[in-house]
Amino acid sequence: MTLEGRVAVVTGAMQGIGAGISRVLARNGATVVLTDVSPRVEEMARAITAEGHRAEHAVMDVTKPEQVVEVMSEIEGRHGRVDILVNNAGIYPRRRLVEMDEEFLHRMFEINVFGMFRCAKAVLPGMTERGYGKIVNMSSVTGPLVGAPSGGQTAYGSTKAAVVGFTKALALETAQSGINVNCILPGYIHSPSAYGLRGSTGDSDAEEKMREFGYKIPVGRQGTPEDVGNLVLFLASDESSYLTGSEIVIDGGNILQEEYLGPYKPR
Ligand SMILES: NC(=O)c1ccc[n+]([C@@H]2O[C@H](COP(=O)([O-])OP(=O)(O)OC[C@H]3O[C@@H](n4cnc5c(N)ncnc54)[C@H](O)[C@@H]3O)[C@@H](O)[C@H]2O)c1
Repeated sequence: MTLEGRVAVVTGAMQGIGAGISRVLARNGATVVLTDVSPRVEEMARAITAEGHRAEHAVMDVTKPEQVVEVMSEIEGRHGRVDILVNNAGIYPRRRLVEMDEEFLHRMFEINVFGMFRCAKAVLPGMTERGYGKIVNMSSVTGPLVGAPSGGQTAYGSTKAAVVGFTKALALETAQSGINVNCILPGYIHSPSAYGLRGSTGDSDAEEKMREFGYKIPVGRQGTPEDVGNLVLFLASDESSYLTGSEIVIDGGNILQEEYLGPYKPR
């Protein structure tokens, strides 16, 4: 599988899953433009370049329609095209419905759902003209398939279920144009934003708590951003040309458990 000669744009690429995806795509030959609301995305792009791969960066807030159009046109102008779009940017603060205000709800949908509409809309005309494109949207097992026992995920779950609907409808709309649109439903993936949600009280105990948390998962560990990156690599490659409108779970077997039989410590 190679992405040699392909141009990829990843949203929310400053850290976590987006950074892992960017690293894997770049290692496999793509020129990757890492985008994020945070200017610190530059550091991640530099780290990938330092490994000897092609990575660039751009500040792009997916809640700003004009900025999305501007950044995507600039990338298309520089490279002649965008072949791969990974709609990864997303937030997952928890709040119970009765404690939620309109602002919280709107922000969640602005980033997690409308952001994907904007980015896809910006690259679709070029992809359609060239008859080639790969769009990968980041959903979650939370929403379409399961809910967290601790609650507080009505907004998040709704946004991630919306991503599945968006993916399927767009896949149909673009199937005749050589464009594949699929979505990924990760379970527990190791990322800094998840530390607090998985038992850590600060940086000092984060790695230990994340490891312990992983023993609840059948394969005995949380996923890495690169695990998700490897799946994106397949979906972004020519080898996945017959796959569109699919939802793929990547969770170490976690949602298979009807009854918890762990801890699944590695032997
Ligand atoms: N970590 C998990 O266990 C997990 C599980 C399922 C799904 N996901 C999904 O994967 C994606 C990445 O999650 P993560 O854990 O790496 O989170 P993260 O917080 O580590 O990374 C998210 C990135 O998105 C960026 N971002 C936030 N708002 C943005 C905006 N308005 N415009 C552009 N970029 C913005 C952040 O700056 C950050 O770099 C999210 O969509 C999340 O819902 C994560």
